[in-house]
Amino acid sequence: MFPSWATAVAAGLVSLHFLQKLFFPYFWADLKYLLKVARYGLRVEVYRLRGSVSTALQRFGALARRQPDKPFLIYEEQVHTYREVDRRSNRVARLFLEEGALARGDTVALLMSNEPDFIHAWFGLAKLGCVVAFLNCNVRARSLLHCIASCAPKMLVVGADMLGTLEEILPSLQENIRIWVMAKESTLPHVDTILDKLEVASDDPVPANLCVANNLKDPHLYIFTSGTTGLPKAAIISHLQVLKGAAGLWAFGATPDDIIYITLPLYHSAAALLGIGGCIELGATCVLKKKFSASQFWTDCKKYNITVIQYIGELCRYLCKQPVKEGERNHKVRLAVGNGVRTDIWKEFLHRFGDIKICEFYGATEGNICFMNHMGKIGSVGRTNFFYKLFFPFDLIKYDLQKGEPIRNKHGWCERVKKGEPGLLISKVHSKNPFFGYAGNKRDTEKKLLSGVFKKEDFYFNTGDLIFQDQDNFLYFWDRTGDTFRWKGENVATTEISDVIGMLDFIQEANVYGVSVQGYEGKAGMASVILKPNKSLDLEQLYQHVVMYLPSYACPLFLRLQEVMEVTGTFKQQKFQLVQEGFNPSEISDPLYFLDNCKKSYVLLTKELHDRILSGQVKL
Ligand SMILES: *[C@@H]1O[C@H](CO)[C@@H](O)[C@H](O)[C@H]1NC(C)=O
Ligand SMILES: *[C@@H]1O[C@H](CO)[C@@H](O)[C@H](O)[C@H]1NC(C)=O
Repeated sequence: MFPSWATAVAAGLVSLHFLQKLFFPYFWADLKYLLKVARYGLRVEVYRLRGSVSTALQRFGALARRQPDKPFLIYEEQVHTYREVDRRSNRVARLFLEEGALARGDTVALLMSNEPDFIHAWFGLAKLGCVVAFLNCNVRARSLLHCIASCAPKMLVVGADMLGTLEEILPSLQENIRIWVMAKESTLPHVDTILDKLEVASDDPVPANLCVANNLKDPHLYIFTSGTTGLPKAAIISHLQVLKGAAGLWAFGATPDDIIYITLPLYHSAAALLGIGGCIELGATCVLKKKFSASQFWTDCKKYNITVIQYIGELCRYLCKQPVKEGERNHKVRLAVGNGVRTDIWKEFLHRFGDIKICEFYGATEGNICFMNHMGKIGSVGRTNFFYKLFFPFDLIKYDLQKGEPIRNKHGWCERVKKGEPGLLISKVHSKNPFFGYAGNKRDTEKKLLSGVFKKEDFYFNTGDLIFQDQDNFLYFWDRTGDTFRWKGENVATTEISDVIGMLDFIQEANVYGVSVQGYEGKAGMASVILKPNKSLDLEQLYQHVVMYLPSYACPLFLRLQEVMEVTGTFKQQKFQLVQEGFNPSEISDPLYFLDNCKKSYVLLTKELHDRILSGQVKL
């Protein structure tokens, strides 16, 4: 017989286990994840205390010595080992060091699409202690000039496939910006070439003290984001944020043996920080693609033995829409890391492509908060608990959709929403959880902060996103507020589009917003316009104009011609009502038009056309 106390203890343990399963079913998974986060935080902290700041770039250098022959980057069948990437980036650094045109702390803007030299240029310039600004390759003309001016670069490095874009802005570019193109020769005036000079440059390392960061909070990159308001802004990405982003794949369980497939553009933080940074953190290999291709996706995964993929919601949807191919489940992909995949597509994706752990995360490029769904709970962006909130203090507050601002009670304070209700996600800003803001733009930085939220002089980062939390503390993305929306994986700033349309001489005013279209992620752009007196709407000219001045994802797909512009009580353009009304010609009496790329014009949106869009016969 066991002594009775032993039975009691055993019974106690069993019931504890039972209670834990019943009331805290996620306890162990949460704990394991938290310990991982804490361990990583501790490591960064120890480096800091020791005074030896260790950046992702320094880690790359260490790897290039430890595993020189391991492939770091595979691109179009070409393998670039750690040593080769290190050496070629040395050449870039040497070239510009010898030119003597750059000093530590200078900004260099990079206008390049996905290719190995993007990474060589980035690392090489970082080795000189420069801050590298990634320009979005789709942005053109006025908007591109705005982006360049906002980060005040000394130099602009342009990829060979971006010369058309460069030519457009060349006459208006400030004269003190030196321009270098990734080509052997060029006929453009005042433009230097890189590739010919790289061939003869030395690949010896540049002095290491050039890139030593004094502080992890020093800027390393500028990445452009719309930040949910206004024109694109250069978010300051510090070394600390690079390290945090780089830990993402590791935290989701990736290992040094993984092969990561990157098809997203490198100028966004997902591919640059999570993908390339994550690959460095792990010491793994990545396969880079110029551009995502739905039809080649699984073929590539098989060919390169890919084990980890990066996605955005649209990408999963495109893959699910592809015709079924024989053997398409016959791949080695085990993790998919990204954001924005909807519940229905998530289920379909798993059903169709097999047992892949989908790791959804939430985080803005410039934000100081992130969530990670490390449990594969379908539809959720992550989970929170008591301890997580100690590390990352955030709140969900009540928000007035019509007015477009947080609701304040009679004492002037904001209020938290109940569980299950969507609320505006705000994240407390303090020295351990800083918000670095935007380059050269104090006003925009301040606009992203909310103060006096729950008490005087508290500061919160306003994510602009509505999130809700379920009874099990899983978090779900609900909608985006503010004057931006997402389309085809890019942020679209409505004010930028209104400005462009407003340049036309027959337009009095344009109000731009995003509308949901069944079967598509994000929101499709729609512009409600009013005409100047006695002017008529020139649909062809309007088409030519938007296509010329805006990236394709930002051209409004729908137009609505109104007699008067509706404004809110505070004389802001009324968007909420228009968004609700959508683009159904059977329900809206105003004339509606649709952007038709075949006819190179806007065309009347008839009921038939509307039906063909909804049924997917007309692709958006
Ligand atoms: C992929 O894995 C298979 C089997 O493990 C191996 O034979 C093949 O060489 C690998 N392919 C590449 C591109 O590494
Ligand atoms: C518009 O046209 C009408 C009639 O043709 C004319 O009386 C009016 O002055 C015009 N208004 C403007 C602003 O040109």
